[in-house]
Amino acid sequence: MATINFKRIAKQFGTPLYIYEAERIKENLSKIINSAAYPKSKIYFAAMCNNQPEVLKIIKDQGVGIQINSEHELYLAKNAGFISSDISFTSTGISKELMKKLIEESIEINLDSVEEVEKFCALINNKSFGIRVKIDKKIKINSNEATNFFSDSNVGIQEKDFIKIKNLSKKTGNKITGVHGYLASNLIDTKPFFEFGNFLVYIASEFPDLEYVNFSGGFGVKFSEKEKDFDFEKVLQYYSSLLHKLSKTFKREIILKIEPGRTIMADVGSLIVRITNIKNLNPEKSEISVDAGFAELARPKIYNAYHKIENLEKTGTKRKVYDIRGNTALQNDFLGQNRTLEEVREGDYLLINKVGAYGIVMASGFPGKELPKQILINKDNIDIL
Ligand SMILES: Cc1ncc(COP(=O)(O)O)c(C=O)c1O
Repeated sequence: MATINFKRIAKQFGTPLYIYEAERIKENLSKIINSAAYPKSKIYFAAMCNNQPEVLKIIKDQGVGIQINSEHELYLAKNAGFISSDISFTSTGISKELMKKLIEESIEINLDSVEEVEKFCALINNKSFGIRVKIDKKIKINSNEATNFFSDSNVGIQEKDFIKIKNLSKKTGNKITGVHGYLASNLIDTKPFFEFGNFLVYIASEFPDLEYVNFSGGFGVKFSEKEKDFDFEKVLQYYSSLLHKLSKTFKREIILKIEPGRTIMADVGSLIVRITNIKNLNPEKSEISVDAGFAELARPKIYNAYHKIENLEKTGTKRKVYDIRGNTALQNDFLGQNRTLEEVREGDYLLINKVGAYGIVMASGFPGKELPKQILINKDNIDIL
């Protein structure tokens, strides 16, 4: 891949600036497609991590489906060219109106509660739906590693309620054809995925009309040098082996579904910011202020997430320790702390790494700022998004 002159682009378009690389989307997706060892696999891109229309079009052209969370994302998905049978909806607290719309548009839905199943069965007869199940608390997850992990979550239907939802669907001629689960965000350790796979397949075997098992996403991305790469192939091979066994039990092929987001988009995007002030705290440490903060990139503040930060001026000067402060005036708005960089000057550009997932979609513009600009580099073309 040709190296990108980030500094020139920052000067041309101004900062803060999100830059996405189209070729990387294709590379990341093809790695995932090639790891899908099971013949009846279906990949849905989790649009919640980045729903830029141009990004969605590239993803659509790679032949995968899309997982959506809202009516607006349904509109974006359709606009990008996804057809109904390639769209899957999973969210929480779905309204009757939205459910009706999804049914009318023949979108696959994974329902999240007994109450949602009641609503679905009151709206329609003789259709099919999937259920999102509550994850077994016995699955050990390293909560320091996972982003946004909440062990007491009420998301998903519990096993004790299966009889109830089976009765509800039977009475209305509806069929429960899918079992869906979301383990946790950004896990690098593969072990919890194996336990989760066993759990989901065990649950799935309780539903005689089963057509698919959806293991969704949560696959980790290496954000810092200290972390390992996520072994995608190992996890997908394990899921495949589980589905082979399950298909034998059912005497028909059950479809294996996944919904990766972060693994496809994180390293596709970078954010360039400009240094607006440098405050010398002591001889060893300074605080850099930049023209962006949590309103442009929320992950460091809300999840304490680490993103590598580089000085785009390769000055070769001595390295110093810096805190990189956001420009929201909040005391604890930092994009990075205790980072060792080549000595910086006011006006220099900094590049924040791996922000293509859960970056712009969480940007708010607070306080009173415009949302950051975004561009997509596609071979020699630059599209302003
Ligand atoms: C239902 C569902 N599917 C897929 C994803 C995408 O997960 P990730 O970006 O971790 O791959 C999420 C993220 O929260 C989710 O809630």
